[in-house]
Amino acid sequence: MKIAVLPGDGIGPEVARQAVQVLKALDLPSLTLFEGDVGGVAYKRHGHPLPAETLTMAREVDAVLFGAVGDPDCDGLERSLRPEQAILGLRKELELFANLRPARVFPGLEHLSPLKPEIANRLDVLIVRELTGDVYFGDKGTRAASDGSREGWDMMSYSETEVHRIAQVAFRAARSGDCRVCSVDKANVLETSQVWRDTVKAAAGSHPDIDLSHMYVDNAAMQIISDPSQFGVILTGNLFGDILSDLASAAVGSIGLLASASMGDRQTANGLFGLYEPIHGSAPDIAGQGRANPMATILSVAMMLRHSFGLEAEAVKVEAAVGKALTDGIRGGDLGGAHGTEAIGEAVRERL
Ligand code: NAD
Ligand code: IPM
Ligand code: MN
Repeated sequence: MKIAVLPGDGIGPEVARQAVQVLKALDLPSLTLFEGDVGGVAYKRHGHPLPAETLTMAREVDAVLFGAVGDPDCDGLERSLRPEQAILGLRKELELFANLRPARVFPGLEHLSPLKPEIANRLDVLIVRELTGDVYFGDKGTRAASDGSREGWDMMSYSETEVHRIAQVAFRAARSGDCRVCSVDKANVLETSQVWRDTVKAAAGSHPDIDLSHMYVDNAAMQIISDPSQFGVILTGNLFGDILSDLASAAVGSIGLLASASMGDRQTANGLFGLYEPIHGSAPDIAGQGRANPMATILSVAMMLRHSFGLEAEAVKVEAAVGKALTDGIRGGDLGGAHGTEAIGEAVRERL
């Protein structure tokens, strides 16, 4: 089991450290960890947010554990040198086109959600977000507008090929639940979304067991909050998936609880090569204070065990330990509690 740990910036190293301790506590045979620089810290040390040696390391392992990147000091740099390019570059270079973001309210923990408990307890959705296309990776630039003012532009596009392959991922994932897939787009306005919708419909033709529906993204944002029980898998593009997953995390209770797995087609001995990270960022507002909730990163380790190493029992064990810690009242500041990063990590390890 070769794993590259890329802690990154802000709270990234704080949460990654706890997740690594959890991984080590499982006493898995043949675990080998490597560590690499990404983000603002990599820019400061090597002049680039995704140094060649980090990318090479990521290519040579079975899985990557990623903390977070983002540093306000770097926000003025030219875009190609900003910390965020590290995660975008890894996703693109490693062809990790499928991002799974499960948002589930742990049974008995409905009160952590700002939603009414009877609504919160029905929130169990998997967001399948396309990760290497969309307006994120199109041409972009600035130019003079017709009135002479500066104008920014970003090209949004999706090819049928890109949509077809992510739809297959959503259909496959839906089969481990009740086969419901809701494809979310903005086909009433965007040509990109019309191609998306047409392609998803066509792809579903050869999957009669899939119960496919379509929804516009503005309505979807509203429905996730008001009636989450209608969703099983949400299939959506890069930009909408980014936004809806932060929204879904707030409905669960905190962004500090949402894990993610990013995968492509590359097989490992017991699963798929993947990059695992919390959905949150580097949280500069609380960085260095030992207050970050590491649960999202610990739950990302569970996804890694499941998807890259075929260790379902260990994955369930880690998820159960996090659930038990929460049930026992272990809470970070994000959930209204007073437990710090280290205390939360320790509490999870005790319950493993
Ligand atoms: P953020 O997710 O970093 O933080 C949003 C809010 O949530 C903040 O108030 C933060 O304190 C809180 N928060 C986030 N994670 C938490 C945790 N584990 N425990 C407790 N509280 C937590 O989003 P932002 O403030 O918009 O972005 C900060 C930086 O992170 C930016 O540079 C952004 O580009 C970057 N970012 C990186 C990633 C990534 O590395 N994958 C993801 C999102 C944002
Ligand atoms: C995420 C983040 C990234 C994204 C940023 C940091 C590039 O917000 O992983 O959700 O937009 O995908
Ligand atoms: Mn995001």
